Amino acid sequence: MKKILITRKLIKDSEDKASKIFNPIFNTNDELYSQSKVIDMSRGCDGILTSLTDKMDKGTISKLPDTIKIISNFAVGFGNIDLNAAKEKGIAVTNTPDVLSDATAEIGILLILGACRRASEGIQSAKDGGWKWSADYLIGKQLTGTRLGVLGMGRIGQKIARIAKSLGMVIHYHNRSKLSEDKENGATYHDNIKSLFSVSDVLSICCPATKETENMINKETVEYFPKGAVITNVARGDIVDDDALIDALNRRKIYAAGLDVYKNEPNLNPGYLKIKSAFILPHLGSATKDTRIAMANLAIDNIDEFFNTGSCVNKVN
Ligand code: GLV
Repeated sequence: MKKILITRKLIKDSEDKASKIFNPIFNTNDELYSQSKVIDMSRGCDGILTSLTDKMDKGTISKLPDTIKIISNFAVGFGNIDLNAAKEKGIAVTNTPDVLSDATAEIGILLILGACRRASEGIQSAKDGGWKWSADYLIGKQLTGTRLGVLGMGRIGQKIARIAKSLGMVIHYHNRSKLSEDKENGATYHDNIKSLFSVSDVLSICCPATKETENMINKETVEYFPKGAVITNVARGDIVDDDALIDALNRRKIYAAGLDVYKNEPNLNPGYLKIKSAFILPHLGSATKDTRIAMANLAIDNIDEFFNTGSCVNKVN
C-alpha cells in the first residue's frame, strides 16, 4: 500500500476512504504544519495530499524526499504549489475540478448580492438595533438589468453567469478564448479586460491565479470601470491589488466589494475592515459538506489513478 501524508484533517467519510486505499498519515488535530514539518513528515511517503493552506514553493519541493511522486491538492486552485519545481523533481500535481463548481458559484452569487444590497451594513444595523425604516434607508444596487462582467468563464464563471442571468442581469465576459454559443448562453465576449471592465456594473472574478492574472485589478485597471461599479472575487486574492481596490472603495469610484478570498489568508488587508461597503467572507467557496467530501474523495482518487496508471486526468503540470 502506498504511504500518503495527508496534511489537513478531512471529513470522516474521506479519511475512511483513504484508509481503505492507502497507508495514510492523518493530521488528527488539524494542526497547520510548517513547510519544514511537511518535509520531515513526508519521509518514507509516496505522495502528499495537500490543502490550499500548504505553501509548496520551490524551496519546500526541492527538499521533499525522492520517494514523493505526487502532490494531490485538495482544491481546484493550485497557486499554493510551484508547478515547475514539482515537474523538475518529477512530481505530478493534481487538483479537484468540477466537484466544487456549484458550491463556489453559490458563494459567487452571495458576494454579488451581499455587496450590491449592502448586506454587511444591514446585518450590523440589525444587530445594533434601533434602526429606523425610511424610503431611502440602506438602498442598494438592484441586479435586474445590471451588467455583470465575468472574468474567467470556466465552470464556476459559467454557473455564476447562468444564475445571474436568471436574476435579470446582462452578462458580459472575458476569457482566454471565446466560448461556444451554448456555453456563452447569450453572454457577450470581450477579448480584453479594458473592454470588459468598461461595461461591468458588477464584476465577478472567477479566473485562476496565474502570473498573467496577478494584480489584474490594480490602480490602472480600476479606472476602466463605470463609476460606482461593484467588484467581487470568488477566485483568489492574488488577482487583486488590495491597496488599489481599498483606495477605489474609499473614493467611491468602486461602490462596494464582495470578497471571499484574499492575499495572505487569513490575514486580510485591514483596510477592508474599515470599509462599510465591503461584504467579506472567510474563504467559504467550497464549504458545504457534500462538496468537501467530493473534493477530498477526488483528491484521493487522483492519487490512486496516478499510481495505477502512471498519470491522472486531473494532472496540472
Ligand atoms: C478553493 O478555493 C479551491 O481552490 O478549491
